[in-house]
Amino acid sequence: MEQAVSKEEVRQLVLEARRESKRIALVPTMGALHEGHLSLVRAAQQRADVVVVSIFVNPTQFGPGEDFEAYPRDLDRDLALLAAEGVDAAFTPTTEAMYASGAQVTVDPGPLGDVWEGASRPGHFRGVCTIVAKLLSLVGPDLAFFGEKDYQQLVIVRRMVADLDIPVKIVGCPIVRDADGLALSSRNAYLSPGERRAATVLYRALREAETLVCGGETDAGFVERAMRDTIEAEPLAALDYAALVDPRTLEPAAAAPGARAIIAARVGATRLIDNMAMPSMA
Ligand code: PAF
Repeated sequence: MEQAVSKEEVRQLVLEARRESKRIALVPTMGALHEGHLSLVRAAQQRADVVVVSIFVNPTQFGPGEDFEAYPRDLDRDLALLAAEGVDAAFTPTTEAMYASGAQVTVDPGPLGDVWEGASRPGHFRGVCTIVAKLLSLVGPDLAFFGEKDYQQLVIVRRMVADLDIPVKIVGCPIVRDADGLALSSRNAYLSPGERRAATVLYRALREAETLVCGGETDAGFVERAMRDTIEAEPLAALDYAALVDPRTLEPAAAAPGARAIIAARVGATRLIDNMAMPSMA
């Protein structure tokens, strides 16, 4: 596996692949890789000739008081995992390389960036859009792979490439879960054993919503209340939001069938998010 550290190195690497008319895929990550990331890598390998994985803990998407400093980092382990998967290249830039001093221009995510996660984490999606646009510009992939776990991020990145005419296909990949349903996340490492058990409440609330809709419930408000009640019954969890939204616009859903259920809650000090597609009406 090749490793590019500078922008020049990654540009050179993909230039050679493109000269040979190879299909290039990018999997952007912040490292602390788990099976969820590796599922993106495997999906990328199915559809591209060359897979580039970026590892960069992007400071601009963390707000003041968030976990930028504490975010888990283990580059050697991450590189070994990617090499074992047969990844072609890892791009591991430094913060100084990615953000030249004096940089001023950022990418505005628009109104989609102000709701849900954006309301709780002001500026987060501006940071995400800016780094993703920079990575797409440097690598110039044909395809880029994102997990559905960060559902709002996926919707916003799709909107960004459409609105800015960035020539890349964004591929969303299913959430990977532990056996008890907890969605894999690098932040799960922060949970104590008790919190780790309590954290399954997010999945339980989503499953409850799914069961209600499967049983014929169409009232979005009713399903949302059921999700909230489930989260609020868990003493270690503090609910941020539990809502049914239109899967493309993220606006509150008019009806439960076909909506996306989205949840954010703090378990101890750790903020967790999860989501699930609600079944459509038969
Ligand atoms: O989903 C993530 O890990 C990050 O938000 C991303 C897309 C790599 C941008 O920093």
